[in-house]
Amino acid sequence: MASQSNEVVYRATTTAPVNIAVIKYWGKRDTTLNLPTNSSLSVTLSQRSLRTLTTASCSAKYPADDTLNLNGKPQDIQSSKRTLACISSLRTLRKELENADSSLPNLSSLPLRIVSENNFPTAAGLASSAAGFAALVRAVADLYQLPQSPTELSRIARQGSGSACRSLQGGFVAWRTGELADGSDSLAEEVAPASHWPEIRALILVVSAEKKDVPSTEGMQTTVATSDLFDHRAKNVVPERMTAIEAAIRDRDFPKFAEITMRDSNTFHATCLDSWPPIFYMNDVSRAAVRLVHDINRAVGRTVAAYTFDAGPNAVIYYEEKDSELIAGTVKAILGATAGGWEGPFYEPLAQITAPGVSLDKIDPRVLDVLKDGVSRVILTGVGEGPVSVEDHLVSETGDLVNQ
Ligand code: ADP
Ligand code: DP6
Repeated sequence: MASQSNEVVYRATTTAPVNIAVIKYWGKRDTTLNLPTNSSLSVTLSQRSLRTLTTASCSAKYPADDTLNLNGKPQDIQSSKRTLACISSLRTLRKELENADSSLPNLSSLPLRIVSENNFPTAAGLASSAAGFAALVRAVADLYQLPQSPTELSRIARQGSGSACRSLQGGFVAWRTGELADGSDSLAEEVAPASHWPEIRALILVVSAEKKDVPSTEGMQTTVATSDLFDHRAKNVVPERMTAIEAAIRDRDFPKFAEITMRDSNTFHATCLDSWPPIFYMNDVSRAAVRLVHDINRAVGRTVAAYTFDAGPNAVIYYEEKDSELIAGTVKAILGATAGGWEGPFYEPLAQITAPGVSLDKIDPRVLDVLKDGVSRVILTGVGEGPVSVEDHLVSETGDLVNQ
């Protein structure tokens, strides 16, 4: 075993992105290993808008227990089975490296100090768990200098939160259900990099930044146990949609991509409604966003926008950059000054727009008021890259927390 000074603090820092699924993961066939009942596919969103920043560090000078500090607050990770499972799997891989090469420092025996910050609300339906667990796994894997690929690491991130396994890569990412009982073939893989279709934009209508009612883990368990529709979706609907949406991505066929995205969001929420007792993630504001997108598509005469909703009321609207005026321009005209967030790198080309791309008399008038009252903020972003290794560490060379 290589010796190490008590004073040395080893560090690695990474950023990780949020992803928003277009074919939704909903339901587990194994709750311990976090194995899904159906494959899913997501778009990784740019870290120029939403990102997690995580530093993983280890040192002999730290107290014995591993710690996680999230957004400035210590977390009780000893009671978080998911976090412990990720850390333990990563440590095992490091131990294998150390056993094979005795010149390596014995990092696997050192306590970890992990510090993380999300630059957006945590646990508010904006997929912080996906970015958060992807960042944690990537940062510790970098600290341990693990040779595993992002696809191999997705097996570990999946144990933190299923959707996190898709945030280890950029662009368009599929998480295959796999067939093996041990979950070793339930992995995420890149379908296409962000550079394949960089024109994809995502406009997030933040409907509520409150904590959600039914957490996704609990909601999907209720659906698995009680919904008849659920089984049909997993077995008969999703497999065909996965094939079709991968072809649409390959061909950069937006209307096809959009229709599958909207239909799959609707089918997922139908299984929630079919659960017993029923689960409602979408609310009146969400439904107004659905109507708006259909009205825009009808007025334009082609499918230029697609909505999708996760386990919460926020709408994510995908479109192509060339249609920005039609979608973002129209939403901006509807919301006026009532919603914040019209800023950032993706907004610049839109800053000059003063008139809606689609005349507001083409939109159902009830939709206009509901959106105006119900959308507190927008986030304008696009498809982006996977985790990036950075040097702005959240832990100093001496092991202290760095104030950002
Ligand atoms: P969301 O809709 O934001 O994904 P969830 O309630 O599903 O909300 O997940 C929030 C949980 O994800 C947090 O309580 C925490 O356990 C975990 N999480 C979020 N951000 C991070 C992070 N940066 N590092 C580690 N874990 C995180
Ligand atoms: C609706 O990944 O949060 O966002 O594995 O229990 O942590 P756990 O669930 P989680 O569920 C995400 C559900 C979804 C759809 C999706 O992202 O595919």
